[in-house]
Amino acid sequence: MKPFNIGIIGLGARGVVLLSSLIKIPELNVAAVCDNDLGRVERYRELCREKGLSEPFSTVDYRELLARDLDAVIVSTTWNTHVPIAVAAMRAGKHVGIEVGGALCEQDCWELVKTSEETGRFCMMLENCCYGDNELTVFNMARQGLFGEIVHAAGGYEHDLREQIALGGEMRHGRMVNFLHRNGDLYPTHQLGPIAKLLNINRGNRILSVVSVASKARGVHHWIEKNRPDDSELMRADWKEGDVVTSILRCAGGETIVLTHACTLPRPYSRDGRIQGTRGLWLEERDAVFVEDDAPQTVSNPDGEHHWSPLSDYKAEYRHPLWVEYDRKGIAKEGHNDMDYLVLCAFADSLEHGEPPIDVYDTATWMAVTYLSEQSVAMGGTPVPMPDFTSGRWLNRAPERRSKYALTEICREQFE
Ligand SMILES: NC(=O)c1ccc[n+]([C@@H]2O[C@H](COP(=O)([O-])OP(=O)(O)OC[C@H]3O[C@@H](n4cnc5c(N)ncnc54)[C@H](O)[C@@H]3O)[C@@H](O)[C@H]2O)c1
Repeated sequence: MKPFNIGIIGLGARGVVLLSSLIKIPELNVAAVCDNDLGRVERYRELCREKGLSEPFSTVDYRELLARDLDAVIVSTTWNTHVPIAVAAMRAGKHVGIEVGGALCEQDCWELVKTSEETGRFCMMLENCCYGDNELTVFNMARQGLFGEIVHAAGGYEHDLREQIALGGEMRHGRMVNFLHRNGDLYPTHQLGPIAKLLNINRGNRILSVVSVASKARGVHHWIEKNRPDDSELMRADWKEGDVVTSILRCAGGETIVLTHACTLPRPYSRDGRIQGTRGLWLEERDAVFVEDDAPQTVSNPDGEHHWSPLSDYKAEYRHPLWVEYDRKGIAKEGHNDMDYLVLCAFADSLEHGEPPIDVYDTATWMAVTYLSEQSVAMGGTPVPMPDFTSGRWLNRAPERRSKYALTEICREQFE
């Protein structure tokens, strides 16, 4: 595979973290970078020097970056700027890897879809959680029928981000303005991405509707009272985002998906995954599974109760071959960089072969949950319809391109 020249737009926390994975992927050469904050551009250049990398072209104006001869760009700016930048990039002939986040409105989702269709450039959401070790193990178990027919799935983004949200002004972080003025599932894709792939959303199945209900918003104010009581402006702020937003998605195949967004209350991080079918389930919070056929003792055990087995008991047999291969390569792992590395490998593979495993229809559908949940919350939990961004093609689309990184099936022949 030739090295592809890519640009990165958005050099905040995420843009910087991505670099440590990108330098392990020889097929991706960071040839240009941009942030509209000059300080962040300079920090990135300094980082390249520290790591002994040649300095990429850099600019504070993304249009200058898009004018260059690049194969693709990664958009890792704040949520509310993703769509205009991604659309401009596709119009400039670049494939796009767009960082995770929700959409502001339906028009933005359609614009992504129509621009990708018109230009022939792909727009792949870089949803790293689709490549998580546990997510892919559970996917493998589900595809091999251990959980039976899948009936229900759930997941959450439950992350205590009170400081980042409350101090978004001084930290220049984009979450703050959204938590001040919006109320819905602002960050649905970490949990929804793997579930949507498992349920074949946009290939034989689709999400029909979204219902969302939000709790009151107290968490950020409470944090400010405790940590910044003298900041009168922050003390007066009227945060609109409910502390816990719960959404129920109904699918054409009859499945339900429950998503939880909770970033403003104290708690340890969780994505709270659950995949449940007619023969068993996985529950991430317990790091455990129950598989009826593997547990005959549950029928006759003295207390008559079902018992959990650790997911690790199933890893030897059901780990996804992508992770088996990745471990064999012995690439040093840091934080959740492993998922970042794999999603970026999938991006590179898509540049080489076309047809990314997360395409523009997936990207638009997953992002749409955000504005739909805001609408539903605003109407007291009324169901709102999910647009069909495939325009009917979900009914009989061709199977996904076969690759190591495929997310609707496991292409075993791709691995040695
Ligand atoms: N996949 C993951 O695990 C993961 C983790 C963290 C963040 N993210 C995502 O990455 C993205 C960035 O998050 P972050 O935490 O780095 O945010 P951030 O606010 O720290 O950084 C965003 C950067 O974009 C820049 N920017 C904004 N508008 C711009 C424009 N028009 N042109 C050029 N630069 C612009 C800002 O100056 C800032 O430096 C978000 O979509 C976030 O959801 C993903």
